[in-house]
Amino acid sequence: MVGAARQTIQSTFPMFELRCTVRGCHETLTRHDDGLRCSSGHHFDRAKAGYWSLLQPQDRKSLKPGDSDDAVLARQSWLARGHAAGLVNALQPWTKLIPDPVTNRSPRTLDLGCGEGSFGLALFPGEADGYCGIDLSKRAIKLAARRWPQATWVCANADRQLPAADQSVDRVISLFGRRPVSEIKRVLTPTGISIVAVPGAEDLIELRESVQSGGHHRSRWELVAEEFSAAGLDLLEHRLWQERIELEPDAIADALAMTYRAVRHSEHAKAESLVTMQVTLAADLMLLGPRAC
Ligand SMILES: C[S@@+](CC[C@H](N)C(=O)[O-])C[C@H]1O[C@@H](n2cnc3c(N)ncnc32)[C@H](O)[C@@H]1O
Ligand SMILES: [Zn+2]
Repeated sequence: MVGAARQTIQSTFPMFELRCTVRGCHETLTRHDDGLRCSSGHHFDRAKAGYWSLLQPQDRKSLKPGDSDDAVLARQSWLARGHAAGLVNALQPWTKLIPDPVTNRSPRTLDLGCGEGSFGLALFPGEADGYCGIDLSKRAIKLAARRWPQATWVCANADRQLPAADQSVDRVISLFGRRPVSEIKRVLTPTGISIVAVPGAEDLIELRESVQSGGHHRSRWELVAEEFSAAGLDLLEHRLWQERIELEPDAIADALAMTYRAVRHSEHAKAESLVTMQVTLAADLMLLGPRAC
């Protein structure tokens, strides 16, 4: 009964305007009682769990179907421990930069590789009608829809044409997620911004050094900024977020499961022997926007 009531309320919420993902179509999807439909008759049901599946047959066969269930659940448990609170604080000033604010609606935000939805709700509370999270993992998008039912959640491949109209999105977010730069540029309004986070060079370095032979110090943000620049979106600001925290063995297990899924057998044994340790968390945060002419 409670579920049925929630379903009815949900169907009346304003939602992020989506486009059809059938190859070559890309028409606007409009809401009907039983789902979303485009003018060419393509139809998408709303899953009981509260998300839209816009997956196409080629996505279902994908060799990279998004994060595994184990990785998604480990990320959820990691975030529930509060390890990303500092990161949310570091990102918050950029979420207040609203390009060309419109008074009668929330800014439109597309979150690519949104995962289990913690960041969307933490960064854009009160903007459910404008927010859309996309993830290829069904498990992740189900968890996200349960967490924040008023927002729009889409199971789709963010590496294909994004389900949004040209120049219709005010912000594209990618927090350790997907970065299809030419599509990001296409959907952003002329003043739209992109907020991107990638793991910092020192992220979990102590853990990587203990488990993998050597660990690697890699900084990727400059390469990412170059990719965006080639698509016409320039780096407006860069920040390094870094913290040192103590991890208990179960948090260590989560960190490994969500980050380094290809942990080899020999590395498993080392990981299991780890006790409480101090580790560094680090992320490079980028604010990107249109090139000043
Ligand atoms: C490292 S997680 C980050 C999740 C979330 N942004 C966060 O920070 O908690 C990367 C996410 O991207 C998703 N993903 C991977 N490939 C994708 C694709 N092609 N399209 C959409 N999502 C994808 C994964 O399923 C996973 O949830
Ligand atoms: Zn269509």
